[in-house]
Amino acid sequence: MSGAQPFAQAVVLWQRQHGRHELPWQNTRDPYRVWLSEIMLQQTQVATVLGYYRRFLLRFPDVAALAAAPEDAVLAEWSGLGYYSRARNLHRAARRVVAEHGGVFPGSAEQLAQLPGIGRSTAAAIAAFCFGERVPILDANVRRVLSRFLAFEHDLARAPHERALWGLAAGLVPERAGDMPAYTQGLMDLGASVCTAREPSCAVCPLESACAARCSGEPERFPVRSRKLLRKSESWWLLFLREPGGRVWLQRRPEPGIWAGLFCAPVFADEEALLAHAARKGARQLQAWAPVRHALTHRQLLLHPVHMELGTADLLEEGGSWFAPREWPTLGLPAPIRSMLADRR
Ligand code: ADE
Repeated sequence: MSGAQPFAQAVVLWQRQHGRHELPWQNTRDPYRVWLSEIMLQQTQVATVLGYYRRFLLRFPDVAALAAAPEDAVLAEWSGLGYYSRARNLHRAARRVVAEHGGVFPGSAEQLAQLPGIGRSTAAAIAAFCFGERVPILDANVRRVLSRFLAFEHDLARAPHERALWGLAAGLVPERAGDMPAYTQGLMDLGASVCTAREPSCAVCPLESACAARCSGEPERFPVRSRKLLRKSESWWLLFLREPGGRVWLQRRPEPGIWAGLFCAPVFADEEALLAHAARKGARQLQAWAPVRHALTHRQLLLHPVHMELGTADLLEEGGSWFAPREWPTLGLPAPIRSMLADRR
């Protein structure tokens, strides 16, 4: 195999024979559906996305319905998927599509990338799937496939090298616009199932004979990236305060920050601060539950739930409310908070 077209043709043929074809966001050219799937798939596995995708479309069947909804309703539907800035940006982008484009998605990757939450690779994926635009994608999976195929030696933590790989990726796209959906999906599928980060399955890869990393004998050495993600560890003490009627005090998380805009139990930096606050309110401790680990992109949270009871439901302070168990399913709640509430029901 040599030159751009044999590469593209090998990916397209492999995708048609061995790639995924039955995912609900395939076999449509509706940018709303493709956009929604690409945003959900950014940080979440296909198996998890399937249910959320179906429910989200039932609730918000098109971009006009999404734009017309309050942000809380969108966050509630996203609840449990994590990375909630995705949901807030999705909602903002829907409002922009309606207000600035008459409810019709812009028809090129360049214009799509102007919308909130749509980066260069996501914009290109939508444009390739929906409009057959000949633009490359470069998400984490595809970066791995291409940097291996080319044995790209340069450090991708540095912007000029990242730009260079984008340039090489642009030179590999198929000539025929009609091949763009299969090519784009094929690269994603190869990265997800064959050219995996550890122990890639080179023996079944359609690119094996021409893959420079495979020829070097060390495919796992690529991509080269000097900066590793550092996750700082942080403890959060969560006060789950219950009044006699069974309602729990929840307040909205501040923006910007972790879980911005979602509802959460009040957070304290340590146990003393939580206990001092609870004592001022006259709360009685029921139970401290085992801590729960929760990984975010840049943070490792250690969550310490403490369940307490109050004698009355006096208004506590601004910025929160009492919520009854029947209201919890309709709230935008981070997944671990939802489980902690359910444990107490
Ligand atoms: N991950 C990102 N986009 C995807 C897609 N279209 N299909 C499967 N996995 C994906």
